[in-house]
Amino acid sequence: MCGIVAYVGYRQASEVIIKGLKRLEYRGYDSTGIALVNGGLNVYKKKGKVSELETYLKGMDLNSHIGMGHTRWATHGEPNDENAHPHYSATRNLAIIHNGIIENYASLRKELTRKGHTFLSETDTEVFIHFIEDIYEKEKCSLDEAVRLALTKVVGAYAIVVMSFENPNMLIAARKGSPLVLGIGKGEFFMASDATPIIEYTNEVVYLNDQEIALVDNGKLTIKNVANLPLTPYIQTVDMELEALEKGGYDHFMLKEIFEQPRSILDCMRGRLDSASNRLILGGLREYIKKLVNADRIMIVACGTSWHAGLVAEYFFEEFCRIPTEVEYASEFRYRNPIIREGDVVIAISQSGETADTLAAIELAKSKGAIIFGVCNVVGSSIPRFTHAGTYTHAGPEIGVASTKAFTAQLTVLNMIALIVAHTKGTITEQKFHEMLVEMEHIPSKVERVLKQNDKIHLIAEEFKDVHNFLYLGRGYNFPVALEGALKLKEISYIHAEGYPAAEMKHGPIALIDNEMPVVFIATKDSSYEKVVSNIQEVKARKGRVIAVITEGDKLIPSMAEFVIEVPATHEALMPIVSVVPLQLLSYHMAVMRGCNVDQPRNLAKSVTVE
Ligand code: F6R
Repeated sequence: MCGIVAYVGYRQASEVIIKGLKRLEYRGYDSTGIALVNGGLNVYKKKGKVSELETYLKGMDLNSHIGMGHTRWATHGEPNDENAHPHYSATRNLAIIHNGIIENYASLRKELTRKGHTFLSETDTEVFIHFIEDIYEKEKCSLDEAVRLALTKVVGAYAIVVMSFENPNMLIAARKGSPLVLGIGKGEFFMASDATPIIEYTNEVVYLNDQEIALVDNGKLTIKNVANLPLTPYIQTVDMELEALEKGGYDHFMLKEIFEQPRSILDCMRGRLDSASNRLILGGLREYIKKLVNADRIMIVACGTSWHAGLVAEYFFEEFCRIPTEVEYASEFRYRNPIIREGDVVIAISQSGETADTLAAIELAKSKGAIIFGVCNVVGSSIPRFTHAGTYTHAGPEIGVASTKAFTAQLTVLNMIALIVAHTKGTITEQKFHEMLVEMEHIPSKVERVLKQNDKIHLIAEEFKDVHNFLYLGRGYNFPVALEGALKLKEISYIHAEGYPAAEMKHGPIALIDNEMPVVFIATKDSSYEKVVSNIQEVKARKGRVIAVITEGDKLIPSMAEFVIEVPATHEALMPIVSVVPLQLLSYHMAVMRGCNVDQPRNLAKSVTVE
């Protein structure tokens, strides 16, 4: 949610910043802006994407070695030029970029208006920089001290960078609740919402913690906290390949990420699972494994696609570990005074590791004494730092806004956790444990086989691209896959889609079925296969158009369905990792055919860092 990037050093700041903003555009793309010290402190901003700002900047003199930029996902105020960041202070000597929400901005704005301040935008951010300047002038202190004093008074979440005309070698950054990474090069510094704009210049980074303020002044970095305590920067090395951030010949990141899945699933198991030696190890779990094995209940908190992964995991934990499991929307969990008892374990799932609702749910569960495990993709993000233990999914950077490879990696990790717990607890036989390990090793090649059907799926997409509604039905392990298929379609193609447990259809959704309604059945051969076949017949009887994801070699469903997509057989617990792939491709092709911006769907942002 909003991307921020800043630079000071020997390069042309505008070039580093524009490139960085393009990498961060997945976080929001309502408007874009940059600030440079070139003659004065100059702000250039525009509604729309980074490319629109680039067009606007063509031919301008942007010579500057210091600057900052922002790509916005609107919270306060509609997306327009005025509300775009950076924002100036009253004297225009200071400017700020901000990711987050200042909750007490209305009262601060009132107070400043009384003092004669006028505001050009409707944003909380503009109020923030006016407030900083007000303190700076009143206290006659250093700018970083004014920022610190302001931070002691604001309520809410922020990652900010502040620049000033008077100090053209200085950047001040701070964070609370929104991510901020500092890159440390030779004679240059970078600041960004994540490491992606930084890694082509340096892999030495400092992840700023909540309530910390970083000051880069004349080539020197110092860090302190909001309570004014000096801190030693903890420099880490990021391990990320630049090519992971490029499209690599694909038309869209989403397509690249769908096709990367055989590799990302393998990466997720690498060094952790080896069927030949019957070995399954997750280092992050070791210390707390007893808590999980003895858990009276597992509560899973997550949002969106990660929540769907949680729903699949509910089946794993109950089937293999015999532990009662509940899956909660993180956003609801925190608002209903949940009962958490000693012996409960909470698992938080998140691709970005920054989702505000999931973080808040973790905070609440922690305050009630729960042990929290994280399953996250982005290394160094907030959730892995706030949980007691956890496991990374190692799917690599996911840039397309619609989650694909992160989902299959989450399922892989959750399945591994369940198997380790079940094995330790003795709720799975040795033979079954071994069979599952062997089968997991086959999953990447099975996903590869599904990807080979891309052309066929393209043809199906052609047939349905102009419809207005879609229904997705599945049972058991494939029910969450139905939800995920529907979410993928609606978020990138804007076609209305619903996912249901297949048997629920007759309790209402069946009324929607006529000869124009496409119904996708995830109907692989598992314990509920016969029942799903009956559900297909019910749809056929009402002239619905059936598209079915079936197990290779199934002879029955092809005689009933208008279109079938075959997937290789696997254990039913692992089937979601395979059966979701054709649904990702179907939604991708339909969205492209409808002219939608697949990687940056309207109104969405990849990392939802606001409540
Ligand atoms: C859907 C999608 C979202 C995210 C959700 C949670 O394709 O990407 O529904 O799954 O916003 O995000 P994370 O997993 O980063 O917590």
